Amino acid sequence: MSLKEVFEDRRSINFFDINKGVEDGLLKDIINLAVLAPSAFNLQPWEVIAVKSKEGKERLHKFAGQPKILEAPVTLIIVGNKTGYDESNPTWQDMLKLLGGDKDKLAGTQGMAFGLYGTSEENKLKFAESNAGLLAMSIMYAAKSFGVDSHAMSGMDFEGVRKEFELEENKTVVMLIALGHLDETKTLYPRSYRRGYDEIVKEV
Ligand SMILES: Cc1cc2nc3c(=O)[nH]c(=O)nc-3n(C[C@H](O)[C@H](O)[C@H](O)COP(=O)(O)O)c2cc1C
Repeated sequence: MSLKEVFEDRRSINFFDINKGVEDGLLKDIINLAVLAPSAFNLQPWEVIAVKSKEGKERLHKFAGQPKILEAPVTLIIVGNKTGYDESNPTWQDMLKLLGGDKDKLAGTQGMAFGLYGTSEENKLKFAESNAGLLAMSIMYAAKSFGVDSHAMSGMDFEGVRKEFELEENKTVVMLIALGHLDETKTLYPRSYRRGYDEIVKEV
């Protein structure tokens, strides 16, 4: 499947085949491909909770009452880290190597990241959500490339989900992505209208 076909064929699947799973190995392949997504300073301020068990799905469904969560074999909770720029992020160690082990340069870069993302709640949220949003999109395209369908959801009690899954206060739930396979007995709505270049681009 070409990348163009992946874009054209990906749809939000409302009806999951409850008898068709996504094996653990395949889920790993999807995530390990999707993490090639870009992120600010390559900080990858994200994490993912894969809700697979019946009990987990019921817990999630309480805060996001969409039947897809109970029907899809797995729903991912995409989590952004609002303080993922701080020194505890292990990816800084990789940056240190790129900087030839120069700790002063690393401290300068860390200071820059803090200045950009750490100085207001709004910037922290933008940092977490923009990066985790790119991961989310990458997951959906990666899934499609492996023949797995998806459905993004933000219709939920975000704070309720955060607390239910014991995420710290510096974490923010960005969206859910149900993964699985279309129930072939159901018909999807036709692809909905998209606003194109002439409507959304302002050239300056
Ligand atoms: C961030 C985000 C949140 C969404 N939230 C929901 C949701 O809560 N429930 C739902 O049924 N669909 C949800 N959708 C799916 C959209 O309705 C769908 O992507 C859109 O109608 C376009 O259809 P397509 O994905 O099949 O091209 C969401 C999509 C995105 C990207």
